[in-house]
Amino acid sequence: MTLPTSSNVVRQSVDRATFESFYAGPAPWDINKPQKQFTAIADRVTSPVLDAGCGTGEHALFFAAQGHRAIGIDFVEEAIRRARGKAAERNLPVEFLVKDATKLGDWGERFASVIDCGLFHVFSDDDRRRYVEGLAQVVKPGGLLFLMAFSNEEPGTEGPRRVSRQELYHAFADGWDVESIQPCQIEVNPAFTEVKFSAGGPKAWFAIVRRKG
Ligand SMILES: C[S@@+](CC[C@H](N)C(=O)[O-])C[C@H]1O[C@@H](n2cnc3c(N)ncnc32)[C@H](O)[C@@H]1O
Repeated sequence: MTLPTSSNVVRQSVDRATFESFYAGPAPWDINKPQKQFTAIADRVTSPVLDAGCGTGEHALFFAAQGHRAIGIDFVEEAIRRARGKAAERNLPVEFLVKDATKLGDWGERFASVIDCGLFHVFSDDDRRRYVEGLAQVVKPGGLLFLMAFSNEEPGTEGPRRVSRQELYHAFADGWDVESIQPCQIEVNPAFTEVKFSAGGPKAWFAIVRRKG
């Protein structure tokens, strides 16, 4: 499966068909456990929790195991099917829904915490704006968004769109306070060897953003 290059997602988001092809096999980002950046901030997370672009659900499942009410959404049915299977196996009461994260504005749910592990960086400029506008509707005043995205410091163009610190500040300039943006690295599935990223995993930003109010 060829990864979309970062240059072609500025105007067009990575589409559902591309993600469906990834989920026909083991996806490169699917490490069968939460990324450590999210487990490290577990004490800052409060219920209810939204895992946006949840994939096979490891972050929602992790927070549910911590006792939180968690909902995971993804627009790929196969990802949600696998996530529901894990929830049943682990006996965790997570709700997993097939839902488009660029259309959150019409949803009645409200969240105190949102996990975005690898979603923001798949969006075009327009969908990025739609996503953030939708988040503004569903995140409660004072609620926190925890977001990890490929960094502009990761060399090359294979893989998702690179995101700069400035783009993160810009995206959350209105109605949000960017509390911190820290460099980190994303753990990838070791079975995925087609693309060589930086040693230790692709360079990323881990941002904590608070909804004003
Ligand atoms: C890089 S993967 C990360 C998956 C998961 N968060 C993880 O850490 O394993 C991005 C996920 O976002 C989902 N996605 C992309 N665009 C979406 C959209 N518009 N609405 C909902 N999910 C979307 C993809 O299907 C994919 O599962």
